[in-house]
Amino acid sequence: MASLYHLLPTLLAITSLTIASSPIQKRLNTTVGITPAMGFNNYNAGLPPSAETALNAADALISLGLKAVGYEYVNIDDGWSTMSRDGEGNLVPDPEKWPDGIEAVASEIHEMGLKFGLYGDSGTETCAGYPGSQGHEEQDAKLLASWGVDYWKYDNCATPSGDSQPRYETMRDALLATDHDILYSLCQWGQDEVWTWGAEVGHSWRVGGDITNDWESAASIAASNAGIASYAGPGGFNDFDMLEVGNGALTAAEERAHFGLWAISKSPLLIGADLATIGNASVEILSNKEIVAINQDSLGLAATTFQPPGAPEPSTDSLYPYWVGELSDGYVVGLVAVDAAESLSVEFADIEAIGAGTFAWTELYTGESGTGTGVSADLEVHDMAIFKVTAA
Ligand code: GAL
Repeated sequence: MASLYHLLPTLLAITSLTIASSPIQKRLNTTVGITPAMGFNNYNAGLPPSAETALNAADALISLGLKAVGYEYVNIDDGWSTMSRDGEGNLVPDPEKWPDGIEAVASEIHEMGLKFGLYGDSGTETCAGYPGSQGHEEQDAKLLASWGVDYWKYDNCATPSGDSQPRYETMRDALLATDHDILYSLCQWGQDEVWTWGAEVGHSWRVGGDITNDWESAASIAASNAGIASYAGPGGFNDFDMLEVGNGALTAAEERAHFGLWAISKSPLLIGADLATIGNASVEILSNKEIVAINQDSLGLAATTFQPPGAPEPSTDSLYPYWVGELSDGYVVGLVAVDAAESLSVEFADIEAIGAGTFAWTELYTGESGTGTGVSADLEVHDMAIFKVTAA
């Protein structure tokens, strides 16, 4: 099924290329999720959904300097509860995984200056077979709020057929009715053109199936969603899925491009690696302050592809080398060596969003900077250069 879900956004993105300029009408009236969420999630690394995992990750976010860069949420995915609700219908933290319960862990994490997130499902069961929230939305939202849960990822397994939007709205209303601001992360794999209504329902929405730990997966997620970039805006973002940076399969160049494409596309940046064993080179990529600042820019606009003269037509089927996005204080230009090591260059005059002129630029991975009418980069295969472009 995962591969089918994966195709959907590609097909829909092609149709949405023509309508993508429609303005986003409404955003949730909350104080959270204004910029893309940043933090950690245990799922990609296969770490157990336990107190130990959460507290270790919180410690590591601090000791590795990642909290200082903006990584804030410690999120625990599927499998944290017991297999059935209690006599009153409440979800129960698995006592083996949470010996002191959830509230104690959430408050310890709050004391560290971080936030705590959990996972649930809009159907009768989560994808791993734990209880889902269908029919218990209000009760579950109240329980989460009482524990101090700050982030709720809401999945789409074991659901009735038909439109997913009403299910996601039921939980939105339940969360909004609590006295705690909870970031609401929709995870229905890009179905029902979620990007067209996601901002009215949650703070981010997954645009496709699960990422896998390889370059092809990261490249295809970025490629297939270039057409829906315009649906991102303050308080609501396309979620490309949790990062695979630091999980051992990608080259350093691929990690730079994966992280860079997520960042400029305004995807949430949720680290999916085991922070106890992650390599320094990966931490360095994740902690690139200037690239994080592009992701967190107050304008909230996502970069998308542009076609310089002589370049092939952009396609959502395969990763495109040329990317541009508007920032509150300039532009971001991304260049990706898609198939081979190559030298790429563009003139600002050929980028409609920028236009002819002399600008100052800095390449954010190398720190190189200059002033001129364009930018260029010598890249190894699958590497990415990210230029911040500002008035000269
Ligand atoms: C999937 C979801 C993944 C992960 C998994 C847990 O549906 O897309 O991100 O949460 O369920 O079972």
